[in-house]
Amino acid sequence: MQRIRKAVIPAAGFGTRFLPATKAQPKEMLPILDKPVIQFVVEEAIASGIDDIVIITGRGKRAVEDHFDYSPELMEKLEKKGDKRMIETLNNLTKSADIHYIRQAEQKGLGDAIYCARKHIGGEPFAVLLGDEIIDSKVPCIKQLEQVFVKYQRSIIGVLQVPIERIRYYGCIKYDNQEDGIFSISDVVEKPTIQLAPSNIAIDGRYILTPKIFDCIESTKAGYGGEIQLTDSIKELLKYEPIYATTIEGKRYDVGSKLDYAKAFFDFTMKNEDFSAEYKSHVKNYLGEHP
Ligand code: G1P
Repeated sequence: MQRIRKAVIPAAGFGTRFLPATKAQPKEMLPILDKPVIQFVVEEAIASGIDDIVIITGRGKRAVEDHFDYSPELMEKLEKKGDKRMIETLNNLTKSADIHYIRQAEQKGLGDAIYCARKHIGGEPFAVLLGDEIIDSKVPCIKQLEQVFVKYQRSIIGVLQVPIERIRYYGCIKYDNQEDGIFSISDVVEKPTIQLAPSNIAIDGRYILTPKIFDCIESTKAGYGGEIQLTDSIKELLKYEPIYATTIEGKRYDVGSKLDYAKAFFDFTMKNEDFSAEYKSHVKNYLGEHP
């Protein structure tokens, strides 16, 4: 039975929704307290059993590579300080998976970003995790998709139900039938208007795709926003293979959006064992002073 060993994490977008913070640093490096967003995503892949990760970068994304790189000077300093806990944290960061980087020459869309990884992925099914989305869940999100993949051996898309007026921010699925949270997809459309949306089931930033997707991306023309959309390539893939979607269990943060970022920062700080007690009392006082 085929398992998922490789993941692609596209992290090449400009982050225009988060300016000016993202003028000189990648949005994927914005910290949620002490951990950059992309580290959450890499950790989700690793916790799902993936040990070969390709991050698609672009201009201005050097900090992402540096973050996962070994830093001898820093390690020496920590050794001198005797900070064993941080040494372990940093060692885990650099050693738990092979991380490769491919630069997308031009920002031509999500489909094009994934296409950049085709030679590395070769002929096996692989996971895609959008680099600016955190999904906080008991079972890592890609693991949830893999559990469905193991049964169907087809492309599996993570989905969530959204209020219909928000569907225009997402890719959207049309489905034939649904059983136990598994949808059999009959069509997909990128960022439809309410009038054109076939459902209120939105494509989340997590996918398991069969390698046939690369041929489909090749024949995908620019779509929504003038970009090569992965959703359009998935629509093409439907001509060749059945595709399924599964509802994701967990809390999702689109950290490319300022409000979701603020929520993620709050929630994760509330859960941090070093700070939660003091932070909670701060929040309580604040709410008391600003009812
Ligand atoms: C991308 C995908 C879209 C998906 C969304 C999830 O859009 O193109 O289909 O619903 O991610 O976050 P983006 O948010 O990059 O515009």
